Amino acid sequence: MIVDFDRIKGERLLRLILSLDGEKFYIVGGCVRDLLLNKSLKDIDVVVERLNRSFIKNFLLIFGVQNYSKSQFLTFKIGTSKGIFDIARARGEYYEAPGKLPRVYPVYDIVKDLKRRDFTINSMAIEFWPRTFKLIDPLGGFDDLKSRILRVNKKGSFIDDPTRAFRAIRYRHRFDFRYDKLTENEFENLNRSLPNLSFARLRNEIARVVCEEKRFLMLKEIGERGILRIWDESFNSFDVKMLEELDRILPRAEDKWFYFLIPFGLENYFKKYPYNFKVSERKILELLFKSLDLSSLSRPSGMHSVLKDAEAETVRVWGALKGVKQELLMDYLWKRDLLKNSIRFNVLVKRLGNFERARKAYNLLVRAFLDGEIEPGEEEEFLRKILSDL
Ligand code: CTP
Repeated sequence: MIVDFDRIKGERLLRLILSLDGEKFYIVGGCVRDLLLNKSLKDIDVVVERLNRSFIKNFLLIFGVQNYSKSQFLTFKIGTSKGIFDIARARGEYYEAPGKLPRVYPVYDIVKDLKRRDFTINSMAIEFWPRTFKLIDPLGGFDDLKSRILRVNKKGSFIDDPTRAFRAIRYRHRFDFRYDKLTENEFENLNRSLPNLSFARLRNEIARVVCEEKRFLMLKEIGERGILRIWDESFNSFDVKMLEELDRILPRAEDKWFYFLIPFGLENYFKKYPYNFKVSERKILELLFKSLDLSSLSRPSGMHSVLKDAEAETVRVWGALKGVKQELLMDYLWKRDLLKNSIRFNVLVKRLGNFERARKAYNLLVRAFLDGEIEPGEEEEFLRKILSDL
């Protein structure tokens, strides 16, 4: 099959590489899939059968980019103002142990490169130079796309690479596909490889899931299949209500990944391995899992004593975890925002010329403000009243 040229020209990123010539090259993987599904493209994976320095040079020239980074697996990443291009040599791979990163070696045939991949829908290439725009589809990915089937390329795929289970779940819900029987069976194999998966790789997979529009359905499937529990036994719960709540509260951003492990039992895991998390993540998780006497926190000023340095979304997750009503939290956050325009602590220190007195006055002011004893604009009057007693 020849891919519609107008469709190719219609994609800005692809139009840009139409002028490249010289070495035979292909676009492959997710960008071919998305092109055939009529979706817009984010980044482009390019494969060459033989790596020629002048090809990379031409690439850099076209985009006026000086640098490229050489990454693992015989690939070069070229970030341009228009998008990211990953240029790779056609390669084969083998796995020395289930769940470990593969060893790669160059191959000189695009078909071999396509066959080592995860799913048939991701194992197609379009020949870009010479300009035939021929679809190379050795495993029937195009038919699977049309029939909305997600099919692994080979038996044992998830044993080699258990991240493919997360990928399968992402594609299933993103495209509303169903698994074929072989793929469904692969989930049964996860206990052989998933426990070997590194924390860093798991984190990447979760971070990708939480950016997806249908992340709730994806994480729900991860929960129902007990996938995280297979990875580490601390993840021995699944609270779908909490998941729903987090889905409502949190933005779709990679750095929010760790919040989404809460419904699966993150508290246990965090106690065991706190140093797997970045300092900033650890601070948030410590706050979220700290046991507290909730009765003292029912008033906004009480909440403030615990949450004053926490970002709004952390406050909302904290509320969901502790069973505090979201209206109360929204009220607290609203007042906390107003407080920013009220009298500032350093202004008060200057005015009173005494740090300790200013601290006491400021704390009283904040408490009165948050608990609704004074309204915005009434701060001066309140201060005048209390200063004589301090
Ligand atoms: N790939 C694979 N096995 C993996 C990861 C990637 O076979 N564990 C292959 C697939 O052919 C995939 C390509 O590498 O299409 C690029 O991977 P990636 O950029 O992660 O995925 P995309 O297909 O671009 O998917 P997404 O739209 O989710 O980014």
